[in-house]
Amino acid sequence: MQAKTPEQSKTILTDMVLPGETNPLNNLFGGELLARMDRAASIAARRHSRRIVVTASVNHVLFSKAVPLGSVVTVEAKVSRAFKTSMEVFIDVWIEDRESGEKSKANEAIYTFVAVNDTGRPVSVPAVIPQTDLEKERFDAALRRKQLSLLLAGKITPDKATELKALFF
Ligand SMILES: CC(C)(COP(=O)(O)OP(=O)(O)OC[C@H]1O[C@@H](n2cnc3c(N)ncnc32)[C@H](O)[C@@H]1OP(=O)(O)O)[C@@H](O)C(=O)NCCC(=O)NCCS
Repeated sequence: MQAKTPEQSKTILTDMVLPGETNPLNNLFGGELLARMDRAASIAARRHSRRIVVTASVNHVLFSKAVPLGSVVTVEAKVSRAFKTSMEVFIDVWIEDRESGEKSKANEAIYTFVAVNDTGRPVSVPAVIPQTDLEKERFDAALRRKQLSLLLAGKITPDKATELKALFF
């Protein structure tokens, strides 16, 4: 199976924030953004693996900036690292200033997807070869995040979380 770069899975979804998608403060409802990120990330995981993919875990979400009604929102997703059957997908969310067109970072998230066959059983995926400094940084930290996610899900015991332990000792 031929390894791929994060750029090969890059998925960009651009859309507006409409009235039915906001909270009482007229900012984008968090669940709506989670769904948009899930959609972009699942396309990125599918482009990387060319398989059916399912969301296994939402590892991290940072709602750092409110996204007002009427904003143009761009969700960019790339596979940052692949393991045997799972893929970490990093999502960056940008909003665009109406007058200047300048983009500013509003949110980010990290999801884990698993490639599966027609009966839902996990199947192997290609490796990722990071290219840029940011891609390398995200690739290097992905194993630590996988171990944390598995630990929180009760799927591994603390002694198996070697990368996490290395952070503290
Ligand atoms: C995700 C799913 C396929 C995993 O199946 P499973 O029988 O637990 O399979 P495994 O234990 O072999 O795990 C498969 C991979 O997922 C990873 N994984 C499982 N749970 C994880 C978690 N909470 N965090 C990070 N990775 C996880 C495993 O580490 C393994 O990765 P690897 O093969 O790259 O090392 C299964 O739990 C499932 O179908 N869940 C429902 C998915 C769903 O409906 N999502 C929402 C709609 S798309």
